Amino acid sequence: PPLEDIVGLPDFEWAARHYMNTSAYTYYRNGAAGEWAYRNNLEAFQRYTAKPRVLRDNSKIESTFTTSILGHNFSAPFYISPCARGALANERAELGLVEGAYQGDILYIPSDFSSLPLKELAAARPSNGSQVMWQQVYLDASNDTATKAHFKEIEQSGARAIVFTVDSAGPGVRHRAQRYAAGSADADYSAFTWQYYQKLQNFTTLPVVIKGIQTVEDAKMAVKYKAPAIVLSNHGGRNFDSSPSGFEVALEIHQEAPEIFKQIEVYADGGVRYGSDVLKMLALGVRAVGLGRPFMYANAYSTEGVAKAVELLKAEIASDAAHLGLSSLKDIGPQYFKWTPNNWY
Ligand code: FNR
Repeated sequence: PPLEDIVGLPDFEWAARHYMNTSAYTYYRNGAAGEWAYRNNLEAFQRYTAKPRVLRDNSKIESTFTTSILGHNFSAPFYISPCARGALANERAELGLVEGAYQGDILYIPSDFSSLPLKELAAARPSNGSQVMWQQVYLDASNDTATKAHFKEIEQSGARAIVFTVDSAGPGVRHRAQRYAAGSADADYSAFTWQYYQKLQNFTTLPVVIKGIQTVEDAKMAVKYKAPAIVLSNHGGRNFDSSPSGFEVALEIHQEAPEIFKQIEVYADGGVRYGSDVLKMLALGVRAVGLGRPFMYANAYSTEGVAKAVELLKAEIASDAAHLGLSSLKDIGPQYFKWTPNNWY
């Protein structure tokens, strides 16, 4: 399908299905086991309705999207989550993600399991290196020498933060992928502890963000261990079928320990497909929202697809924020939604 026919982020999945072979598509699409967590990520947002305010001036809403993420300014409060194996969607692999993020002026966090080496991705930045990217890592707890060397390589690439993924305690149960021989887990690293995280922080001058926090208790641990930022995430529902969506964890923090949103930067991902999903995350205090699959699918069209996905999502956020009655995105808060599920099934 031509790119002009794409009107929203979910369309990219439909299109990617056309461009990708079954095994490659299945690797991206897969969720753990019965895929309840995968579906719940998408559906959790629908349980909460807005409290739209009217007769307010929202004509300049888009000019208020600028967001600082660990001190770096971007044009919008959403980013591209780290996803392995970009070459499955496009022969240019992750280049489209680097360039699309640059065009859309948003953050891209390449995966440690990218198809292209870190060096090549850093060198591909259209801006002569001024584009801010971070780098996700999977580590081997038993090999500090390798970890230090990896961190050094990341620092030298110009990445401005390291994102340490902690939600992959074992290979996920991935029936769909097994059926289609589409590869199984993204990683299997189970020997990590909070002490190890503390040690890691001394291996680098870069901030080490923790990705994969799924409870209020662990968010508090992250504050205690001086994490600069955390990502509330269940890995897109790919690893554990009873895991909560990032949005649900954000809601729990909002209800039980809202101070955390002020103590450290909190990002979240999982099932974000519409502008209203982003707004619901921001309303709780989430600073930036990640999207994985939508950008991976959009990358079937390389740079143009990724840039179009950014534009579509920005336009939806603008429209939905206006309908909420916001003059500035900075005014968003919990008062704009009903935090009691109205669509419980
Ligand atoms: C991922 N994710 C992921 N996360 C990570 O930290 N390192 C990785 O290498 C990968 N690889 C990966 C591959 C694919 C194909 C997907 C779909 C996801 C998880 C990713 O960063 C993010 O948490 C989810 O994708 C968010 O959910 P949505 O937006 O895909 O619903």
